[in-house]
Amino acid sequence: MYDFSISTEQPADIFYGDLTSAARALVDGERDAIANMANISALIWQFVPDLNWAGFYRLIGDELVLGPFQGKSACIRIAMGKGVCGTAAATNQVQRVADVNAFPGHIACDSASRSELVVPVCKDGKVIAVLDLDSPLPDRFTAEDESGMTGLIAAIADSLG
Ligand code: SME
Repeated sequence: MYDFSISTEQPADIFYGDLTSAARALVDGERDAIANMANISALIWQFVPDLNWAGFYRLIGDELVLGPFQGKSACIRIAMGKGVCGTAAATNQVQRVADVNAFPGHIACDSASRSELVVPVCKDGKVIAVLDLDSPLPDRFTAEDESGMTGLIAAIADSLG
C-alpha cells in the first residue's frame, strides 16, 4: 500500500515532478510490466483531475491491445495508424487532441470523452505501448501536461516492457 500526497494546487512543473517521483517509487525494483502499468494508471487516475479514462495499450504484433487502465471498459484492439492511439504508436509522436470529434478516425470508446492525450512508450528506441488519457472536458490537456506526462513516461519506460 502506497500513500502518496500530491497537490494539484501547485505549478504544473512541480506537480509533474512530484507525480514522476511517485511513479519512479512505484516501479522501483519491479520488472513486471503489467503490474507497473496497473499502478501507474491508478496513480494518474488518483492525482490528475478531470479524466474519464487513464491507461495503457500495449503493442503486440502489429496492433495495440488493451492493457491496465482506470475508467470504463474500452475497445480491446486498435490497428497501428488508427484512432488517436494508433496514430501515436505509428508515428512515435505525442498526440494532444483538443477536440476528439475533430480528429479523423477517433475511436470513441466512451462517448463522454472530449479531449485526449496519448504518449508513446519507447524502450530500446522502439514503441512498445502508449499511455492514453481521456477527459470529458474539451481542450483539457495543456502543453505542460504533454511535457509532464512525456517526462514521466520517459522516466519509467524501461519498467513498462
Ligand atoms: N480514443 C482512442 C481509443 C481508446 S479509448 O479512448 C480508451 C483512440 O482514438 O485511439
